[in-house]
Amino acid sequence: MRTIIEPFRVKSVEPIRQTTREQREHALGEAGWNLFGLSSDDVLIVLLTDSGTGAMSSEQWAALMRGDESYAGARSFHRFESVVKDLTGFEYVIPTHQGRAAERILFSELVRDGHVVPNNTHFDTTRANVEYQGGEARDLIMPEHRDLHVEAPFKGDLDIEALEATIAEFGAEQVPLVTVTVTDNSGGGQPVSLANLRAVREVCDRHGLPFFLDAARFAENAWFIVQREPGQGDRHPRDVAREMFRMADGCWISLKKDGLANIGGVLAMNDPDLAERCRATLILTEGFPTYGGLAGRDLEALAQGLVEVTEPDYLAYRVRTAEYLAELAWNAGVPTVRPPGGHAVYLDAKGLLPHIPPHELPAQALACELYLTGGVRGVEIGTLMFGRPQPDGAPDTPSRHELVRLALPRRTYTQSHIDYVGEVIEDVALRAEQLRGLRIVSQPRFLRHFTAQLEPLTDGSAS
Ligand code: F0G
Repeated sequence: MRTIIEPFRVKSVEPIRQTTREQREHALGEAGWNLFGLSSDDVLIVLLTDSGTGAMSSEQWAALMRGDESYAGARSFHRFESVVKDLTGFEYVIPTHQGRAAERILFSELVRDGHVVPNNTHFDTTRANVEYQGGEARDLIMPEHRDLHVEAPFKGDLDIEALEATIAEFGAEQVPLVTVTVTDNSGGGQPVSLANLRAVREVCDRHGLPFFLDAARFAENAWFIVQREPGQGDRHPRDVAREMFRMADGCWISLKKDGLANIGGVLAMNDPDLAERCRATLILTEGFPTYGGLAGRDLEALAQGLVEVTEPDYLAYRVRTAEYLAELAWNAGVPTVRPPGGHAVYLDAKGLLPHIPPHELPAQALACELYLTGGVRGVEIGTLMFGRPQPDGAPDTPSRHELVRLALPRRTYTQSHIDYVGEVIEDVALRAEQLRGLRIVSQPRFLRHFTAQLEPLTDGSAS
């Protein structure tokens, strides 16, 4: 088989800046060994997130000029609405400035104290918005899929038995909606099968519950279904995506991912009464219902992006890029979450750095060393993000996993950039035994990973 190439050529370039290790050591020290504190000019390859960081196509840039900036009833809204309706089948289309705004609006209408919201795995903002309303955000991934290294085609599938048990435990009236995240970002970018969505639909029908998709990466999920689900191999990914959405009663989408644009979100549903209530809140916090916090030009770029994103050549290149980077990591002896997800590779720092205990933040140590070695910026998903300080100086409660997520912006880097990242990973892996952990010097009460200040431990320094 021939090389799967980037299915585009470059029309506009943005220079990236090389730095020396000394410069990076200085920058990281200034940032308190927290990669969120770096200035982007000091980073060569940015793999912090795939959200809003992709490149737009020439058709999207052209569409910007067609943006109609009318406050009400803009032509750009109608184009956006018709593309979203055609894709999802949902009757009511409510634009928002990004995904979490849609979550906030939907959950403020539906979730109350004592409610439980099932999901395969809640993304952080989804969980926070459920909890803000007084609800419990319950993750119901299959127990055998919690193992990072188990190979399975649909590790994002929701555990149907656990869903039934949760409904029985709380009573259907305490379950305001059932949600499924496609792909399961916090679970490693793992897809959900059509068969599983059908099973969730069936449970929801039996209990009279609404079913919503968190569909930030719906196109990548559709592509995995085409590749992996029996009987789906001949279908166009757009056709599969349509079927996924038609299984649900509504969805919210962070369009900063598979909308192929830098900003945007949408909430869509079939229930007219709920839509009316959501629109009332939208006007309060986002804007008039035909722009929802976005400019007309954003709506145009999104309408075009939502058409391009289901192209098979694009999706083949997209998913292959993550797989290729994972293979480079494996060849360097670095374990990752398996199989690789659609949008990111998750390096397993616990596997690579067994000599660094969780409270010395092995994944943060690895993320920092990738930056120092090659200017590559990923993100820690481990004890810095999820651990909790303990009284009397006891070690922090550890996170279940110690991962570094290398998220791939869409259509932004070429294969040689990815080869370079692979070389940096290999360089670090060869020196794995020499890596040392980190100590937290100061931290805020909530979401500490964004702003905590750290310092490296040296041999002999206690943590
Ligand atoms: N749902 C999922 C599955 C997400 O991955 C994200 C964002 C959101 C909702 C929230 O959307 O950022 O537009 O408000 N994920 C980004 C990430 C931030 O890096 O994974 P948003």
